[in-house]
Amino acid sequence: VHRIIEDCRQELYAHRPTVGNVGETHASTLSYASHEPNAALNRLVQQRMSPADVSGELTVSGLKGRGGAGFPTGVKWNLASKAEGDVKYIICNADEGEPGTFKDRIILGKYADLVFEGMTLAAYAVGATEGIVYLRYEYTHLRPHLETILAARRKANLLGENILGKPGFCFDIRIHMGAGAYVCGEETALIESLEGRRGEPRNRPPYPVEKGFLGRPTVVNNVETLATASCIVARGAKWFTSIGTERSKGFKLFSVSGDCARPGVYELPWGMTVQQLLELVDGQGAKAVQVGGYTGELVPASQFDRVMGYEDLGIGGSIIVYGQGREMLEVAENYLEFFIEESCGQCTGCRIGNTKLLDGVRLLQKGTCSNRYLNDLIGLSHSIKTTSKCGLGQASPNIFIAINEHFKEEIMARPVLAA
Ligand code: NAI
Ligand code: SF4
Repeated sequence: VHRIIEDCRQELYAHRPTVGNVGETHASTLSYASHEPNAALNRLVQQRMSPADVSGELTVSGLKGRGGAGFPTGVKWNLASKAEGDVKYIICNADEGEPGTFKDRIILGKYADLVFEGMTLAAYAVGATEGIVYLRYEYTHLRPHLETILAARRKANLLGENILGKPGFCFDIRIHMGAGAYVCGEETALIESLEGRRGEPRNRPPYPVEKGFLGRPTVVNNVETLATASCIVARGAKWFTSIGTERSKGFKLFSVSGDCARPGVYELPWGMTVQQLLELVDGQGAKAVQVGGYTGELVPASQFDRVMGYEDLGIGGSIIVYGQGREMLEVAENYLEFFIEESCGQCTGCRIGNTKLLDGVRLLQKGTCSNRYLNDLIGLSHSIKTTSKCGLGQASPNIFIAINEHFKEEIMARPVLAA
């Protein structure tokens, strides 16, 4: 999978087949590309929008967090605005570490202004004065480009004191580099890391909106969420709600990789089926699709009529296509190796359980696993899920559970000892 992602970096596409009648464009996302520079901030100033108007617009739009969990953005901003605190912070989570996910890299490379504009809108809505972009270590090459844009925004009074002449609207943004740990994409581990400690998830509640960076109210939003928020404030909630489905408003960026002829980043409205997406990327005939990255859900071919949207597959931005030639035990081995490498080690289930699960997968591959032990491994998978503190551990055994459910015949095709 890692190799395939490397390959697909050569060719990035964006395509929006059903919203508007627009064809393929090279590495460009159409809603973002057509956004007038700083249109949202200009609207805020010209129409004298109040902080509550800004979060209200997002609440009406139905925008949900694009990092994967789908928490309503307007509600988050509103909670942070009401939280008590002398100082408040806006954090842009640019620690895009989910295997198969590379949409935020495209947004930061091509539309960083939109992200910074979104952070500034969030700051206005909640009353924050400082913004931090937590940038994935592997995206260090983007930093000079981002710093240049930040400097230009300061010069244009889009950051700094009394932004766009609005008295008391003061906000600036700095960039903080991650150090290459996947778990720091989890918001509380990210905050721990920002505070100079090991990146280990905290217990929640309290949620960051109440007690986040340095114990102050903090909004943590994904890159795509912030960019999309700018488009919504600029064009109005109605524009956004006219796209998508009843429970999944608007559009979404999908990173597509794996066994398909046209991998890349696609902007699509919510509501497509997995089959429609496969046709778009020339991945027909696939055996399964992992929707939502390694922490997401494995969808077998018999379920390709499932819908991408919060009513069914409410997901992060990653789609990995598995062709007929893929060996699912090998896929599970790859996922588990990744989670073992990236576990922070706080929870016994995640730290030890996954190594036991990986041992079991290797026994199955060699044909030296007993039927009883296979059942124990399924039990272990459920224990890991319930005893893990964060999404990493909670999702880590999903792949093993899924292949047992959907590809049992592949597992049983090897010798499985009766005892
Ligand atoms: P979560 O559902 O616990 O929280 C989502 C967001 O809503 C957080 O910002 C949280 O602070 C906020 N929130 C939730 N309940 C709240 C409440 N009662 N009051 C105030 N704020 C509240 O999900 P979590 O654990 O933050 O993220 C897990 C998701 O992340 C998974 O669904 C997975 O798809 C995704 N993920 C994304 C990755 C990526 O690279 N983009 C990597 C790994 C996982
Ligand atoms: Fe750390 Fe894993 Fe526990 Fe998450 S589930 S806190 S990664 S040990």
